Amino acid sequence: MDRITQAIDKLTAKQDEHTPLCAYIYDLASLRDHANEIVSALPRNCEFYYAAKANPEERILETLAPLVDGFEAASGGELNWLHQCQPKMPLIFGGPGKLISDLSYAIDIDIEAIHVESLLELRRIASLCSQKQRSCRILLRMNIGLDGIEHTRLTMGGKPTPFGLDVDALDSAIAIIREQPHIELLGFHFHLMSHQLNPQRHLALMKLYFRTFKRWCRDYDLNLSLLNVGGGIGIDYAHPEQRFDWREFCAELANLIEQESMTKINIRFECGRFVTANAGCYVMQVLDIKQSHGEWFAIGHGGTHHFRTPAAQSHDHPFFVHSRSPVTAESEPETSPSIKAQNVTLVGQLCTPKDVLARQQYIDKLNLGDYLVFTQAGAYAWNISHQNFLMHAAPEMVFLD
Ligand SMILES: Cc1ncc(COP(=O)(O)O)c(C=O)c1O
Repeated sequence: MDRITQAIDKLTAKQDEHTPLCAYIYDLASLRDHANEIVSALPRNCEFYYAAKANPEERILETLAPLVDGFEAASGGELNWLHQCQPKMPLIFGGPGKLISDLSYAIDIDIEAIHVESLLELRRIASLCSQKQRSCRILLRMNIGLDGIEHTRLTMGGKPTPFGLDVDALDSAIAIIREQPHIELLGFHFHLMSHQLNPQRHLALMKLYFRTFKRWCRDYDLNLSLLNVGGGIGIDYAHPEQRFDWREFCAELANLIEQESMTKINIRFECGRFVTANAGCYVMQVLDIKQSHGEWFAIGHGGTHHFRTPAAQSHDHPFFVHSRSPVTAESEPETSPSIKAQNVTLVGQLCTPKDVLARQQYIDKLNLGDYLVFTQAGAYAWNISHQNFLMHAAPEMVFLD
């Protein structure tokens, strides 16, 4: 965290006293190291795509592009953006409710693969391919039963959801594909849960995917080359020091691939949160400290309109306090409120009681102008926030390299 606190000190040296700091700070060097570690631990027949929905900032994409095999887009907007930012990067395109214009664009740019989410979408792709007389590679995204598999906090399959095809739609899907010479079925796609914190449970899920893939190849006499196993590796916000043991997972995955005779199949990951979460911090400078009905509150410059992650996940976000060098702004009254050894709730500037980043957190010492530094803020943070609410200014975006 030294690089982050040094960056804060540097930023504040340039700061004018009337504009307290509010910023996202990304450590691109640590992102690069982490992505390198992820990719180098993978078994031989695995590929790694970055799910850009976690954080599509241009500098993040630029940092990851040389390290990963491609990017995953989950909307027409993302697809456009990714293709603009990194025109040479292989792209894959998933997500429910794709517009016909999105599908058309994907076919025109000769996308690596479209992940088909429904029979109607498959028919739309077939008809576009016929009209254009162009081919398209696809994966069928499947929503299979999860018997015997432990769920996570965010499970999007094994139950009714808008994602992917049910198993009983597979006969029809295969029939449509067999009639359409322009569609090339490369394989199947699964993304049934996010927030996975346990490597053994994730391996059990991989085993289920492998066995289902092999069964369908047998049953439908398919010669498929690719299995997309989705993303979903989690971040333990409650215990930030505990990390998903990716090395252990990959070592055991290599054994599983051998045991299940999957060595000839290309296994593709598309992870988001695990890639970028630790590379970003959200910093709010403390504007006010007050008591309400016996409880302490610290109000920071910013809030959930910039950083919705804690509200979206209903958690207390991990943070630390970086003290401001002891200067009192001339315009501040001499007796400013401060806190010693208290539980404090950290909030933003919004006029809603939901604008809470962490509740009742023990803090040794907090003064006006100190910095609340929320760590693990590099994924599903700025881009999932309701940024226009109350028309507050946007945070500074700082990229350290
Ligand atoms: C289809 C699909 N793939 C990949 C991801 C990335 O998941 P995560 O950020 O948990 O790795 C998601 C997230 O919602 C998804 O829906």
